[in-house]
Amino acid sequence: MPQPPPPSRRRSAHPHPAQATSAQHGDCDTDQPCLLERAQLHAVPSTLLIPLAARAHGGRYFAWLACHDAVATQLLAALGADIHAYLDDLPTVLNVLWRTRAIKQVGQAFFAEHPQALGVNLGCGLTHHFQWLDTGANQWLDADLPEVMALREQLLPLHCPRARHARVDLAQPGWWKRLGLPKKTDAQPVLLICEGVLMYLQPEQVHAVLAEFAQSAPPGSRMVLDVLTRQAVGRAATHASVGPTGAEFHWGVGRMAELEQVHPRLALLREQSVSECYGWTGIALDMLWRPWLGAPLYGMATLGVEHGSP
Ligand SMILES: C[S@@+](CC[C@H](N)C(=O)[O-])C[C@H]1O[C@@H](n2cnc3c(N)ncnc32)[C@H](O)[C@@H]1O
Repeated sequence: MPQPPPPSRRRSAHPHPAQATSAQHGDCDTDQPCLLERAQLHAVPSTLLIPLAARAHGGRYFAWLACHDAVATQLLAALGADIHAYLDDLPTVLNVLWRTRAIKQVGQAFFAEHPQALGVNLGCGLTHHFQWLDTGANQWLDADLPEVMALREQLLPLHCPRARHARVDLAQPGWWKRLGLPKKTDAQPVLLICEGVLMYLQPEQVHAVLAEFAQSAPPGSRMVLDVLTRQAVGRAATHASVGPTGAEFHWGVGRMAELEQVHPRLALLREQSVSECYGWTGIALDMLWRPWLGAPLYGMATLGVEHGSP
């Protein structure tokens, strides 16, 4: 199992970012509330800092997974966020870097086949996947809840005419149309990314999101998402990074096949487990746990709407 080097700035005791005052934020002026404080993010939106910290600094601990995000470090500095507690949670840092790599791979394969297609990041937080997936001819849409998009618009204003922003609540049915996504009859498929989002929704809301994708997307479309085991539901308080935010996990999978069973147009094209990062030991442990967990502790799925589906 690959062991990460010890973090260079580990702290044994420090306030969690979600609880810190402005004086405790590394980049904050002590007299002025930082941008992060002014944004007053609710519990679930505030979790966007966790993957942002991993993309900014995770390469220090897991060099082979470094994503070389061109903007994450500056975004954290502009926010005035103290993210040391997140970097102490190395399993989560690893999960985020692994999923970033998996998403890049799915995206690059998709746009190699469809260089002019649309990519959509649902619950985008402060990710900037278009830095890696811009073909020079494709379109991009980043969408999240209004409070997150207000922050994003300040920090990551649009510079490319092929990219746009939108406010969306995925818990409200009808988001496909509200976002102006292509019709089912369009020739060009769509790539949807939904990372670190669906576990915060209720199971019936997740099923509705997947069913809306299945019902609405043109053939050849893909959706890449991450999943937690169902055993994690209701246990966010025990998660080192998510627990202090107050957010809760409401949705997890019992079996990966459940994803495609939501709608007849859906096909589970690929499933991955983060255990692959831990070599043979991880794979063996994954096999050992599977009969009990039914799914990876943390995994990725690529869903497709296939040609020829009704
Ligand atoms: C852990 S963050 C992940 C952010 C981003 N996807 C990333 O990986 O950096 C969870 C994100 O899900 C978004 N989210 C949660 N519920 C949502 C909903 N109902 N509609 C849209 N976005 C939602 C939050 O606002 C937040 O940005």
